[in-house]
Amino acid sequence: MQVLVQVIGLSWLGCLSVNAQVNLSNINGGQSVFISPPTFAVLGATGNFRNSSFTEFFNPTATEPPFFQIFDNTFLDILGPNPTFNIVSTNDILEFFAHEAPVFVKETNELFFVGFDQTQNVFNKLNMTAVEQALEGINGTNITSINVPATQIPLPDTVHQINGGTGPVGSSLLFVTNGQGPLPPSVVLVNAKEPFNATVLLDNFFGRQFNSLDDVKIHPTSKAIFFTDVSFGFLLQIRPPPMLPNQVYRFDVTTGVVRVVATDFEKCNGIAFSQDGKVAYVTDTGALSSLGSPDQTKTATIYKFDVDPISQVFVNRRVFAYADTGIPDGIELDAAGNVYAGCGDGVNVWSSEGVLLGKFFTGGTVANMAFTGDGRLVLLGGTNVYLVKIAAKGQNLAVPSFQGVPI
Ligand SMILES: *[C@@H]1O[C@H](CO)[C@@H](O)[C@H](O)[C@H]1NC(C)=O
Ligand SMILES: *[C@@H]1O[C@H](CO)[C@@H](O)[C@H](O)[C@H]1NC(C)=O
Ligand SMILES: *[C@@H]1O[C@H](CO)[C@@H](O)[C@H](O)[C@H]1NC(C)=O
Ligand SMILES: *[C@@H]1O[C@H](CO)[C@@H](O)[C@H](O)[C@H]1NC(C)=O
Ligand SMILES: *[C@@H]1O[C@H](CO)[C@@H](O)[C@H](O)[C@H]1NC(C)=O
Ligand SMILES: *[C@@H]1O[C@H](CO)[C@@H](O)[C@H](O)[C@H]1NC(C)=O
Repeated sequence: MQVLVQVIGLSWLGCLSVNAQVNLSNINGGQSVFISPPTFAVLGATGNFRNSSFTEFFNPTATEPPFFQIFDNTFLDILGPNPTFNIVSTNDILEFFAHEAPVFVKETNELFFVGFDQTQNVFNKLNMTAVEQALEGINGTNITSINVPATQIPLPDTVHQINGGTGPVGSSLLFVTNGQGPLPPSVVLVNAKEPFNATVLLDNFFGRQFNSLDDVKIHPTSKAIFFTDVSFGFLLQIRPPPMLPNQVYRFDVTTGVVRVVATDFEKCNGIAFSQDGKVAYVTDTGALSSLGSPDQTKTATIYKFDVDPISQVFVNRRVFAYADTGIPDGIELDAAGNVYAGCGDGVNVWSSEGVLLGKFFTGGTVANMAFTGDGRLVLLGGTNVYLVKIAAKGQNLAVPSFQGVPI
């Protein structure tokens, strides 16, 4: 989403309660802490309670980020025996340099992503081969941050404010855009190689402009494009007032047909499917509905749906999880079906049953993330790009083309 991240504060919640017995398990040089839920079930009358889900974190061990915060032993299977957590690229000039729309291209070992600037596209690529080489250089030292510069790439003037991405589709990146002023939001393919030429696939719903498209996934079997549309572009003052509800659409490139598959959200945001395509997840981030003043009584919620086998409409909506810090923004699944969402304190990970297993705790907002090969997960944390090396494998989001299995 387009975060109104300015609200995310910096204060810490240390020393939760004198009785919180925390199991400090140094799996990787102090980068891991295990916190057993019964140890904080009761804080007592003198407990140090959090008043804000946006400016106060749940970090009872007051551990310096980045670190792995573990709530359930199952998270150890995701981390594997030797997890690492490093800052790999930094940009101090642009606050939202590493923001959204991460797409990994295996062929060239490059990660594409966007930053956010109200006036222009900020489209970057990061060479993951160069990142690996730089990490080898700090192996065995106590250095945890490296800075491999990302390369900013100019985009054709048919692409306005990318906010979500997936694929690749063949050799192209699939993006959805916010639009800019009167210029319409769109679904667009961008060549992953020079000259980075683009083809707009969709820019309206029966002649009406979308509000501002936020995130996108390709359905694993039908290969239809599913995207969220939400009024954040208006809140960020880059789009006119919304003229459609905040909802989720399905677009079949082969037939050109676009339709709504889910509605009744406060602010629908990230989207993901299970690998078999039978289940969909959509984040709803109503708690960030107005610029600069979050309302933590509104949604910071992940909904889970069944995907109707005939129509692919989303049915049987139920609560999957509610994020304790910030809002759940971009959402991804690993190959085992665990669910990862970018939240106010890093990436939070739930089992497919909705049990919070642990967090990749950065101490700030992560809007989105992408697996960049098996066991490598990149987190987009505003000024910083983080790389975690773990045991979990990513879902395969690349598709050869939009030709799917007919439904
Ligand atoms: C602490 O956590 C580690 C990792 O989960 C576990 O192996 C160990 O048994 C725990 N120790 C105690 C005292 O609970
Ligand atoms: C939360 O608010 C209460 C009541 O105003 C206050 O006593 C407490 O110190 C606050 N907690 C924190 C962590 O700021
Ligand atoms: C990535 O960096 C490596 C060296 O660090 C270089 O050999 C390779 O050509 C680069 N890849 C691309 C696609 O530029
Ligand atoms: C660091 O170097 C050691 C020894 O060469 C190697 O076994 C280990 O895998 C390396 N660690 C990383 C994170 O590359
Ligand atoms: C890192 O190692 C160097 C030299 O071995 C030492 O001087 C420095 O204090 C260490 N830094 C930290 C943060 O441990
Ligand atoms: C980019 O241009 C090439 C050559 O004209 C074309 O084959 C390709 O489809 C274009 N890609 C996109 C994403 O527009």
